[in-house]
Amino acid sequence: MLQCPLGLQYTTESKDAVLEFHKAVVALAEYSSNVSTFLDKALECDRNFIMPHVLRGCWIVTGGGLSFDEKLKACLTAVSDPDTKLTWRESKHVEAVQKRAAGDAKGAIDTWEEILLHYPIDLLATRLAAGLYFLIGDSTNIRDCLSRVLPAWSSTPTPPGYECVLGLYAFGLEESGDCRKAEEIARQALDLNPDLPWAIHALGHVYEETRPPEEGIEHMTTWKLHWIDSILSVHMTWHLCLFYLDFGDLAAVLEEYDGYMKPRMDDIFALVDGCSLLWRLECSGFSPGEERWAALTEKLVAATDNHAMAWFDLHIMMALSCKSAKDQAARLLLAKNLLDSMSEYVPTGKTINHVVTQEVGLPMCEAFLAYGNEEYDKALSLLLPVRRQTARLGWSIAQRHVIFLTVVKAAINAKNYRTALALLSELKELKPKHIATARMFSMVKEQLYQQEKK
Ligand SMILES: [Fe+2]
Repeated sequence: MLQCPLGLQYTTESKDAVLEFHKAVVALAEYSSNVSTFLDKALECDRNFIMPHVLRGCWIVTGGGLSFDEKLKACLTAVSDPDTKLTWRESKHVEAVQKRAAGDAKGAIDTWEEILLHYPIDLLATRLAAGLYFLIGDSTNIRDCLSRVLPAWSSTPTPPGYECVLGLYAFGLEESGDCRKAEEIARQALDLNPDLPWAIHALGHVYEETRPPEEGIEHMTTWKLHWIDSILSVHMTWHLCLFYLDFGDLAAVLEEYDGYMKPRMDDIFALVDGCSLLWRLECSGFSPGEERWAALTEKLVAATDNHAMAWFDLHIMMALSCKSAKDQAARLLLAKNLLDSMSEYVPTGKTINHVVTQEVGLPMCEAFLAYGNEEYDKALSLLLPVRRQTARLGWSIAQRHVIFLTVVKAAINAKNYRTALALLSELKELKPKHIATARMFSMVKEQLYQQEKK
């Protein structure tokens, strides 16, 4: 039994294994790129060390990957029957990953919270709980699970990894509406260590909500050296594209998409961002073209029966609802298959995702399909009742904005300018510096005037 630099006990006799594992935990909390390398090294030092398997299992299952089953199975096998007696805290980590792998997000979170009640310094439990709160749309707890552990990190000197905790907290603050404090905490973290992709990312979200796009572009490019080699690089490029899109620089969006994002579409996170970006381009009146959609659709359709998250299903439907597909009949058949598969999935369990799929995911997927079929009145009537429920799909405010944009565009295309203007008035208050919103507002105001003059 040995202690890590945070004072937590681990069941191994290898000091190097504990140190490498601690580095992996910090890298995970920073969103750096070398988590796997540290885990491999920890296992090289002690092949019976359970915790690297736990971390890897959580990482795979939280990633919601499309082809992770075998790797996940290997992790679960490795942790299910340890040769040595684990500590209570390690056993709880094993329990959490098993629950998460079984689709029980609530059970996994409760288990990590139980660990944190006794060991608030456990950075792994903090990072995994915050990450899962994000995926299930509990933005208050993305913030508060950090608030609850902060006193444990307040010693002098601060424990190693403190700046990651600040980065995680900054993002929670932004997602729960406190952009001012989020910026303060993110900058505090970056003053301690500029190589903190998650803190740079949290600040990027603050810029997305509160600053004009040119300042967002400057933020992302100024800090690029510190995020381009991280596991967030595709997502950060997506954020950069959002700023370019709002600024009206389509050439820059396509250059980033084709040059950086497209060749890296090898996990569900990248696919979701790619899909969302192409959909936003469509909503902006620019068709990204059949080829770009086809490359994404082919990979996403493979996950039609996955249902790891309603959020993924919605993005598969986006790809199937685009108007650029070569074979429209085949596209419609695949879209129908997805809706049928979601309906069959709903009665198979009672997890958060089953409920959200039924109450939010299904009507939203039907709405996106109607939108793609140019049935804008139908799309609007399906979207309006559930648009306040979008947070239940999880992920970030910036990512969910694609839904708000679709509701507005459905109203405009349905020539329901009064509804569009009301929605845009709301959006103008939420994101006062968005150029595209202000442009759309003026355009819709004029269209309403012309419509009512007739
Ligand atoms: Fe983000």
